[in-house]
Amino acid sequence: MECVTASAPGKCILFGEHAVVYGHPAVAVAIDQRISVKIQPSPNNLWLLDGSSLNMNRNPHIKGLIEKLWPEQFGAPPLSIHIEGNIPRASGLGSSAALSVATAAALRTARGRWVSKTDGTQQQHWLEGFGSTITNSEPYDNSLGFFAQESPAERYHITGKSSVDYDECAILAHGVEAAAQQGRASPMDSSTCSHGGMIIISDVIEQGVDYLYQRTLAMADATRHWHIHKMTPPSNAEDMFLVIGNTGIYAPTGKQVANVADMLLQDPSRMKEIDTIGQIARRGIEALKEGDFDRVGRTMTENQLMLSSIGVSSPELDNLIKAASPSSLGAKLTGAGGGGCMVALTKKPKETSDAIELAGGRTLISRLGSSGLSIDDSQNAPLWTKA
Ligand code: MEV
Repeated sequence: MECVTASAPGKCILFGEHAVVYGHPAVAVAIDQRISVKIQPSPNNLWLLDGSSLNMNRNPHIKGLIEKLWPEQFGAPPLSIHIEGNIPRASGLGSSAALSVATAAALRTARGRWVSKTDGTQQQHWLEGFGSTITNSEPYDNSLGFFAQESPAERYHITGKSSVDYDECAILAHGVEAAAQQGRASPMDSSTCSHGGMIIISDVIEQGVDYLYQRTLAMADATRHWHIHKMTPPSNAEDMFLVIGNTGIYAPTGKQVANVADMLLQDPSRMKEIDTIGQIARRGIEALKEGDFDRVGRTMTENQLMLSSIGVSSPELDNLIKAASPSSLGAKLTGAGGGGCMVALTKKPKETSDAIELAGGRTLISRLGSSGLSIDDSQNAPLWTKA
């Protein structure tokens, strides 16, 4: 039986949520918790999700990715999708980005990719796909209907893991996240869930870290640009843990992001607070580069003060942060806030976890910077291809 399974990690934000939407720097790490997406041919020629009919309107991320990668108008057959994992939903841990990245990777593996035959310079170019570094001789044109225009003699089809590209999965996930957040989304969650490790987003190209790509998104008020980098965690990160405390309060990101946008519309002078979060994130990046985790922790706590000031914390988050503080280097909410999760940076994960649980939170423990997207199974892939 043909089958493809891909998985992607959740994420936790150390610095800069909300301000990153406005182009400021931020840092996120991939966590040990993951979402896995398995796809198989549908047994009854209908789209299925976990054995029931797939309601596209209630699953906008999946719908958006199917439209990009599995176009029915070209004969792509319905699939049966199965999702499992241990990232709580709508809780600031990147569950929708992880789902989107894993779904994009599974669909790409199930389809494969057309590339050109190597040219004189031994370069192989994508003939179809989405990404910030496509080296196709012709600019990629979505309206052409996804497929190579070259004659069969000039192209071939790659399958399995080698057809998957981290950048493509991240860019597609960013697109569907932005649609779900009324057009306002940074590429932080999608990049972290795809590439894994420690991701630094910045308004400038950072020194001393690996540059990945630039992202641009036209939002209602302005076009925003971000430079995305991957940083190898400092060696002393081995002694560090993240203890994540879940308030259990459902907190969809789109609503929180819209609340901040409304606040700024009502009172543009409050952009100063957003700018301050950007400055804090910049100091956090410097502390991380120096491997100074005491300072990283203090900077996280400072970041929390500003997140409270812009109204995205909550009494439940404050309660768990207070409980974690004595045993940790620093603590703050993670993600959009309003509920969802907080995160503490600690060398004493058990003590911090016990304190958060005693205060009523459910905890998860993670290292800093787990591995990114992976293709876990690709039996008899591709499931469908178009010549
Ligand atoms: C959500 O995990 C992080 C926010 O900054 C939104 C975004 O970056 O798109 C609140």
